[in-house]
Amino acid sequence: MRRLLVAGNWKMHGSRAENAALLDAFLRAEPPAGDAEVLVCPPFVYLHELARQLRENDVALGAQDVCAEPVGAHTGEVSAAMLRDVGCTYVIVGHSERRALYGEDDQLVARKFVAAQRERLVPILCVGETLDERESGRTAEVVLRQLDAVLELAGVEGFRDAVLAYEPVWAIGTGKNATSAQAQEVHALLRARIAAKDANMAACLRILYGGSVKAANAAELFAMPDVDGGLVGGASLNGEEFRRICGAAGKQET
Ligand code: 13P
Repeated sequence: MRRLLVAGNWKMHGSRAENAALLDAFLRAEPPAGDAEVLVCPPFVYLHELARQLRENDVALGAQDVCAEPVGAHTGEVSAAMLRDVGCTYVIVGHSERRALYGEDDQLVARKFVAAQRERLVPILCVGETLDERESGRTAEVVLRQLDAVLELAGVEGFRDAVLAYEPVWAIGTGKNATSAQAQEVHALLRARIAAKDANMAACLRILYGGSVKAANAAELFAMPDVDGGLVGGASLNGEEFRRICGAAGKQET
């Protein structure tokens, strides 16, 4: 059985005061998530403080990005060792906003994945197609190309301690989520790619869905056999809403 994971990606939102209020609303009811594992990914500058605030609460901490290099002259970058040092256990790599706005290609994303694992961080590898790519029938080609670049560098062994996230670009921040059938189709495709190399690994791999997840659609998405949780953006900025999404995950078993 795969324990579901719900990750809140705060993107570039928050302040120390807002974060405290958000956590307060989220943690108010116990237990927040039943059996699901919960993770929050705030901006870098808040990681250290949040690590201390979350210590007692069984909520894990992740970063939104990591440098592919371990140390050195890389102004503005943050290494995997630094993330580990301040209490992270997860890191998102290859988010579509990093790919589209900051020019990260498949090879750089693969190097970040490996850099994270070298420091025993669990990478959450994001893949997903644009609307144009979906409408021209290229969804499978795009997500498998993104996955293959990491398989090539990290090998299938790299997926023993990793998480995949399918985030269709057209569903991110638009209020228009993929249907549960659309999500299931791509998740099954991704799992089959890993299964072709190692069936046991594929069976254990958690594949999250991201893109306009909210309390109203979470249970239906999480009920799909290959959907093992969610990567939640906007709705994770509302403590009450995020708690309800985690609650929906806590009721599922896959
Ligand atoms: P939204 O939930 O705001 O659509 O964002 C999804 C996302 O990009 C999470 O990483």
